[in-house]
Amino acid sequence: MPTSVATRTVKHRTDYKTPAFTISHVDLCFELDAKATIVTSVMQVLRQTANQPLRLDGVMLTLLSVEIDGKEVSADKWQQTTDSLTLNQVPDQFELRIVTQISPQDNTALEGLYLAENTFCTQCEAEGFRRITYFLDRPDVLAVYSSTIIADNSRYPYLLSNGNKVADSINDQGIRTVKWQDPFPKPSYLFALVAGDFDLVADSFITQSGRNVSLELYVDKGAAARGDFAIQALKRAMRWDEQRFNLEYDLDVYMVVAVDFFNMGAMENKGLNVFNSKYVLADAATATDKDFFNIESIIGHEYFHNWTGNRVTCRDWFQLSLKEGLTVFRDQEFSADMASDTLTRIEAIKVMRTAQFAEDASPMAHPIRPEHVVEMNNFYTVTVYDKGAEVIRMLQTILGKDAFAAGLALYLQRHDGQAVTCDDFIQAMQDAAGVDLSQFRLWYSQSGTPELTATQQYDASTKKLTLTLTQHTAATADQAIKQDLHIPVAIEFLFGQQHAKQQHLLDLTANQQQFIFNNIAQPDAIVWLAHFSAPVKLKVDYTDTQLLQIAAKASDGVARWDAMQQFWAKLIAARLQDNNVKQALPTAVIQLMQQLLTQPQADAALTAELLALPDFDTLAEQYQQIPVQQILTLLRQLKIDLAHALAEPLLQCYNRLAVTPYQYTEQDVATRSLRNRCLHYLAELADSTALIAQQISQADNMTDSLAALIASQQAQHVDFAALISSFATKWQDDAHVMDKCFSLVATDPTEQVFAGIDNMLQHKLFSWKNPNRVRALFSAFSMRNPEQFHRLDGKGYQLLADVVAKMDPLNPQISARLITPLLSWRRFDSVRQQAMQNCLTRLLELPKLSNDLYEKVSKSIG
Ligand code: TRP
Ligand code: ZN
Repeated sequence: MPTSVATRTVKHRTDYKTPAFTISHVDLCFELDAKATIVTSVMQVLRQTANQPLRLDGVMLTLLSVEIDGKEVSADKWQQTTDSLTLNQVPDQFELRIVTQISPQDNTALEGLYLAENTFCTQCEAEGFRRITYFLDRPDVLAVYSSTIIADNSRYPYLLSNGNKVADSINDQGIRTVKWQDPFPKPSYLFALVAGDFDLVADSFITQSGRNVSLELYVDKGAAARGDFAIQALKRAMRWDEQRFNLEYDLDVYMVVAVDFFNMGAMENKGLNVFNSKYVLADAATATDKDFFNIESIIGHEYFHNWTGNRVTCRDWFQLSLKEGLTVFRDQEFSADMASDTLTRIEAIKVMRTAQFAEDASPMAHPIRPEHVVEMNNFYTVTVYDKGAEVIRMLQTILGKDAFAAGLALYLQRHDGQAVTCDDFIQAMQDAAGVDLSQFRLWYSQSGTPELTATQQYDASTKKLTLTLTQHTAATADQAIKQDLHIPVAIEFLFGQQHAKQQHLLDLTANQQQFIFNNIAQPDAIVWLAHFSAPVKLKVDYTDTQLLQIAAKASDGVARWDAMQQFWAKLIAARLQDNNVKQALPTAVIQLMQQLLTQPQADAALTAELLALPDFDTLAEQYQQIPVQQILTLLRQLKIDLAHALAEPLLQCYNRLAVTPYQYTEQDVATRSLRNRCLHYLAELADSTALIAQQISQADNMTDSLAALIASQQAQHVDFAALISSFATKWQDDAHVMDKCFSLVATDPTEQVFAGIDNMLQHKLFSWKNPNRVRALFSAFSMRNPEQFHRLDGKGYQLLADVVAKMDPLNPQISARLITPLLSWRRFDSVRQQAMQNCLTRLLELPKLSNDLYEKVSKSIG
């Protein structure tokens, strides 16, 4: 029987109330045991509102005792529910001692305190602390914590928690007791504890004011060498935040623990980050250039949270983008400075145009500051994170870099040690910059992707150029009425003859607005929305010539890439209209690509992007109803046609570009990227198998090996089966590489994929309890194998639904993330709609559906 709707409480942003009590100090003690860990919590509680009971959050806890000011409280003085403990009559100020028991070994949800393999580990954000002990588990209760950890020293030689270690002793039985003290008041979601056996990579950092910070990276035994890149990246992040925003680290130790079982990328717990090992460990043989990039960016992200998140935190979870949007923006700026700025921006734009635009068009649409939530874990989204970061970026664009930095400094100084709101952030920006941001604030409350229409009119006799911009935001699933937003529109005029360029920033604030330029020559082309200056869709009637001109000449690499993407999208849309697959490629684009391939001086990373066709998801977002098969057929045909038209320059470029030995430098990454882009096309030509075999046998790094495998698979070479099987044999004991192998198996564009996945489920390293393994197989299948996932017979959808049903009782965070592609069933044709709906209905009928999954599925078919 389905669980009744009534048990799923919807929380509303506007219902916020200050807590009736606060807790100034907490002393925690953990007697670690796999099945029966005893948690003793001693809290200093203070009343803030008269005549209120004390209601504490707590889930899946066995309550052993309650004491107030040293006196046992009898059971008739409290009420327990499945998620709370309420004490009715309590003093205004008292010490509350609560003892509970939990079972870390049975915790497969990886939320709260869990034991995975031989490591005890916590994950408290967003509401996991209540699975450790009864508490006011909300981010506006800031307390000073100490934690005492008691465990068997031989099995758990490292006992870690937030802050500084203040005591450490061992008794005759080999039982160790370690005590930690964190001087900074913090919300419960930033608490962390780790116990296990590791290799320690140690280093140190001298802050700008001359303090010495010891850096400690804890990794799996034997993996120390693979931790070097992460620790170097950490030092770069610490230096960068000092230089860019004048922000310095505040404790004497910064610890990072890499764990194999983790629901997300990483977690910014004060002084003790916990990372998914996939975002820490890397070397040339096992990690790709993209892995190295992600590690640097996530190490930066969690470090930057120390100021934007920890020192200044969120008042309530509706404000999540306050810390996440801002911190993603900061990590993107860091990556742009460390790696290629053009590529960093292009990757961020791709995320927006694929995942975020899709979310806005889905039943889960929400503003970057959501209005209502059933399960908070469902709102760690691309909208809150990535669109949130775009909103911060627009602020920087509107205010200018210096005023933005001043605004951030004012925000941090004004609110240090507080739990605040998105409004507080905007207010600080407004006060520092002296700019009215009242209309800009709508970006926080309005969901949906605005559509921008741009037209131009030139009067040659008066040399007057008139630009007209119109904005429109369509209704979304959560919100019918939309208002006009303040949209910064960066533009660049390209003048053909003189090769001249001119840049401007237009502030669109009305529904329709004209911008007049007097005494100006007629531009040959206008780059609209340069650098993706706002997270909007753009409608402009570009000619092919204009797009190719922008692709060839714009000053900004992002604009050039974008023009190529628009060129292909336009061509695909036209061919889709006339149902014409076998049309010759326009010579102008072939000429341009030929030129790009034969310019050894050019930025290779950008060239690789200029040579890329748009991906399936980017194209899909441009259609109300997604023409799955047509897009796939056209994309494949274009790839084959380009390979033939450019065969010679592709091969020459490929041969010119080898790099060894492997180094992760901006230049080498660029070279590999361009070379592998060439290979991707060359694989479509006859007798390309030797080329691929050669690259695999000569590669000294995972980037080139994996690129060759993917090229072979996507071109459907017959010998791909042999290649992947020797790859799987070679790496059978390495979980991170096997994840790549699982993903490869899952992206097989043929029907073989089902047998392949079944086979991998038998692999000794596969485990349903490990989110990385499950995602490697099934996110790859549902998000990167449109051919087979969107099969007309519904077999792809059923596979995903079966996996979701299996995962939900084990780990609801993961099941709710996996379901995402099925939620958007309305975007497909009626046959696929029906097949997807059937899957969702079946899930809704499951006896014990998690809140996480229920919220999404019911929104989708409700
Ligand atoms: N705050 C983390 C970040 O840096 C996100 C996170 C990690 C998280 N683990 C989680 C969120 C578990 C919810 C649940 O972005
Ligand atoms: Zn974050």
